[in-house]
Amino acid sequence: MRYALITGASSGIGLELAHIMAREGHHLILSARNILVLEELANTLRSSHAIEVHIIPCDLSDSRSAITLHKAIKERNLTIDCLVNNAGFGLLGEFKDMEEDMLHRMVELNCSSLMSLSRLFMNDLIASKGRILNIASVAAFYSGPLMSVYYATKAFVVSFSEALNFELRNHGVSVTAHCPGPTHSNFQERAGMHNATLFKLLPVPTSKIVAEHAYKAMMKRKSLAIHGFINRLMLITGSISPRSMKVRMVHAFQSSKS
Ligand SMILES: NC(=O)c1ccc[n+]([C@@H]2O[C@H](COP(=O)([O-])OP(=O)(O)OC[C@H]3O[C@@H](n4cnc5c(N)ncnc54)[C@H](OP(=O)(O)O)[C@@H]3O)[C@@H](O)[C@H]2O)c1
Repeated sequence: MRYALITGASSGIGLELAHIMAREGHHLILSARNILVLEELANTLRSSHAIEVHIIPCDLSDSRSAITLHKAIKERNLTIDCLVNNAGFGLLGEFKDMEEDMLHRMVELNCSSLMSLSRLFMNDLIASKGRILNIASVAAFYSGPLMSVYYATKAFVVSFSEALNFELRNHGVSVTAHCPGPTHSNFQERAGMHNATLFKLLPVPTSKIVAEHAYKAMMKRKSLAIHGFINRLMLITGSISPRSMKVRMVHAFQSSKS
């Protein structure tokens, strides 16, 4: 029996991916820090679908916590055929004012843990001709004043995912970088975005809609998937705009949230 490991399964896009993958018959290993939410989710999924669900709480912003999570999964004799690296967070504000420890934690969670889990589970994934789904962001394609580190972490995710997908093409393993735009979840509150008005004015999709799109992209073994027509259009127009203009534009966008 093979499992899908989903990080950040306690809320937003990760929680919706857990519901979708359970519906589609995947056995699941769910991870996040909030054990109570994970327990409740696991009970709901077990009672509504004929699947096995394990929960393994873990703070993936601690350095080397990916090793601990991998060890815990192997101690239970579980193997995986899908790795969903979804856990992540951003912080809004001037770089000079940010707590250094929080910035390290962001890089650890958004980049290092994602990379480590991909490496640690590589044998499982090659043996099963499995799939990796990395939740990046449209932020990956811009430089992001007032969210400089977050945007840079997502650029890492897209670059790493595309390269790995190519390297693994002869091993039957696919790596999908999925790029949502702004999406309703706990992300905005956690990032310190106090101006929710912007989200009321823009057509912002639910986490469920975004998760369905991400799941389909992973199952089709797409290398890169951008969610939403407007996001795709902005990336096309952005690709022919001067970089200096794009930085100003993103700054104006981020300022409106603070
Ligand atoms: N929402 C957006 O507008 C948006 C847009 C583009 C990309 N994304 C990306 O989508 C992904 C999912 O975010 P979301 O929008 O669903 O936000 P969310 O509702 O805040 O969910 C984030 C998930 O990550 C987990 N997490 C946070 N810190 C963690 C840590 N230190 N260790 C382990 N797990 C941790 C959280 O669980 P616990 O708190 O229980 O640990 C939660 O399950 C992220 O990678 C985010 O960058 C979001």
